Amino acid sequence: MQILRGRRVLIGIGGGIAAYKVCEVVSTLFKAGAKVRAILTEASQEFITPLTVTTLSRHPAYTDEGFWQPIHDRPVHIELGEWAEVFVIAPLTANTLGKLAHGLADNLLTNTVLASECPILLAPAMNTQMWEQLSVQRNWQQLLSEQRYHSVGPGAGLLACDRVGSGRMAEPAEILAAVESLLHTGGKQDLVGKRVLISTGGTREYLDPVRFIGNPSTGKMGLALAQAAMHRGANVTLVHAPATWEVPEGVRAIPVVSAAQMQQAMLGCFPDADLIVMAAAVADIKPAEYATEKLPKKLLPTSLPLEPVPDIVAELGQRKQPHQRLIGFAAQTGDIVKPALQKLKEKKLDAIAANPIDQPDAGFGSDTNQAIFLDNQGRQVEISPCSKLQLAHHLLDFINAL
Ligand code: C5P
Repeated sequence: MQILRGRRVLIGIGGGIAAYKVCEVVSTLFKAGAKVRAILTEASQEFITPLTVTTLSRHPAYTDEGFWQPIHDRPVHIELGEWAEVFVIAPLTANTLGKLAHGLADNLLTNTVLASECPILLAPAMNTQMWEQLSVQRNWQQLLSEQRYHSVGPGAGLLACDRVGSGRMAEPAEILAAVESLLHTGGKQDLVGKRVLISTGGTREYLDPVRFIGNPSTGKMGLALAQAAMHRGANVTLVHAPATWEVPEGVRAIPVVSAAQMQQAMLGCFPDADLIVMAAAVADIKPAEYATEKLPKKLLPTSLPLEPVPDIVAELGQRKQPHQRLIGFAAQTGDIVKPALQKLKEKKLDAIAANPIDQPDAGFGSDTNQAIFLDNQGRQVEISPCSKLQLAHHLLDFINAL
């Protein structure tokens, strides 16, 4: 989360039980090196206290009580509004949503919105009945039609009112990812109308119902690509091998296990996609035979006859249409450029991300990564270690120039 270091993030906290989760957002932002300022509405203080937020952000929290106590001789809402690089409003209540949709300002939070120009990230949270009201939905759509507003969630799940339905605030990790994206893009939505298809994770080839040939890929790179593309406005489909993470709200997920299943899913979605990124670590081989019952230990073979699995990206390369862009990944040890260039050419890719898997802080399972991007025009860009989300944005920037 290097991108957060020294960046100015303003958090507006509304009056809902999800306010307690925003404390984690504040804390994580501070620990990642961001400068955090927070505004608490009066209702939010029924759930958390200014002292909580002051302590976590290492800066006095702002409330309506201090509205007319200037900072540096300037009104608080003007000073904070101009200070912020990103303004997060979480939880966004039906009341604040309604006020923002109509340009109303009757407290510090809403006045600061009007006095600011930066991108605003909205994380709504409310009871399902409230969220689904026509009036609330109308306000929501109206607000999102303005370029500066971005949204994260709400998702569905068990709500504090014991109801299961939509209206659940996005998890802190999702809010943080959206903040990182906004800091990278400045709010630019350059993938609106684009359909992006991503594969990720390590496929598994089972020998029997228990044992398989696989690899340590966790699929986090493809997850980061899906988030980055979605934050930039794309319609995203993520074909993923078994994973421990949850697919973010707004991404269409197709879970698969084997290379053959991944091939089927990718071929099915491919004709509709504009940009295809093959980040999956496909197991290149599979056992020639599959036993439907678990093999007893003493019946396990001492050597295993193997067969190749389909080369998915090569097949997509054959079918590629002129408007489509096909991007591969090459996880390598040693020299990463030469084999990646060979794959770029052989598989008819438009670009490839060569990433080392023998470096600390890169490759399988890590939250950070580094890579060299290469394209079929001879461009080469090196990206030093950064979060996988940031690397995903750098790759999307690189592809944009294709
Ligand atoms: O494993 P390798 O480094 O050759 O992978 C290069 C690219 O090819 C990656 O984008 C990977 O997702 C893709 N690939 C594939 N089908 C395979 C093997 C790899 O699509 N059977």
